[in-house]
Amino acid sequence: MSVIDLRSDTVTVPTPSMREAMANAGVGDDVYGEDPTIIELQNLAASMAGMEAALYVPTGTQSNLLALFAHCERGEEYIVGQHAHTYRYEGGGASILGSVQAQPIELEDDGTLSLAKVESYIKPDDPHFVKTKLLCLENTQAGKALPLDYLAQAREFVDKHKLGLHLDGARVFNAVVKQQTTLKDITQHFDSVSICLSKGLAAPVGSVLCGSQELINKAHRWRKVLGGGMRQAGVIAAAGIVALNEMVERLADDHDHAQMLAQGIKDITGLSVDLDAVQTNMVFVDFEQSKRENILSQFAEQNIKIGFLGEQMRLVLHKDVASEDIERVIQCFKGLKL
Ligand SMILES: Cc1ncc(COP(=O)(O)O)c(C=O)c1O
Repeated sequence: MSVIDLRSDTVTVPTPSMREAMANAGVGDDVYGEDPTIIELQNLAASMAGMEAALYVPTGTQSNLLALFAHCERGEEYIVGQHAHTYRYEGGGASILGSVQAQPIELEDDGTLSLAKVESYIKPDDPHFVKTKLLCLENTQAGKALPLDYLAQAREFVDKHKLGLHLDGARVFNAVVKQQTTLKDITQHFDSVSICLSKGLAAPVGSVLCGSQELINKAHRWRKVLGGGMRQAGVIAAAGIVALNEMVERLADDHDHAQMLAQGIKDITGLSVDLDAVQTNMVFVDFEQSKRENILSQFAEQNIKIGFLGEQMRLVLHKDVASEDIERVIQCFKGLKL
């Protein structure tokens, strides 16, 4: 019985076309700015995002961190969602490495941050307080695509308060596909955006940070400081180019699969699925916490790997989960001895 891995879309393996591109990639020393494949990837990402420049980096965590340091100096702060990746799941890098403080705020049900709440947390210009410099959003947030009109409001808001606006767009292409829009329609509202190539887009490694030339110059400096200056990394960047050119539209399949899965398990007694939250490639399931180990072991017996985000079961659909697999997962849910 094959393994079905629903823990994350980070488990996706590169496609044959990626492997071919990697084998044939032209390379150079990227610390000298001489890797043609990285230059091509950066130009492609910047043009898709409608921004001046882009920087290829090893991980989404580093990409977000570089953005935070490009926007905020020591003794400054960013406002961010309490459950946002840039606050909760990146090891506290901003404070540990850059003396940049986070001001976390509870997220709203739709994945946005209430701008009224954000306003109430902006610090006055007074030596008692750290200086608020940046608002950081995440899209998709737990699988939810942030409404486009909200993004426009957020832009107006940061302009009014003279803040920067960063997007952790690890899965921004899932929002693009869900909203049947373009990347630019989303990124036009931001000063910087971090895009992961290694999640649903299935590249083995890497993220791109996009922004103005000035912002990318600062990020480039920090990338070196953090040990992210790679050499002939065109070998991996080549898969990133394939990811951007060939892997975006197919995310719609993952979204369909998420719907199939959610519909197939929504009526099972003992579980609760929030159907409104199933917007892209994630399904969250609530159940009684004392049953967690028992559920995990029943899935493991069926060769199905599942993960948790906090207390909720998180099922992530991606290119290496096929329609037939969804049926097998639904049957496993139906057979659970709760
Ligand atoms: C929303 C979000 N942002 C950023 C990241 C960080 O990416 P990486 O694992 O490449 O550091 C992740 C990783 O899962 C993520 O889910």
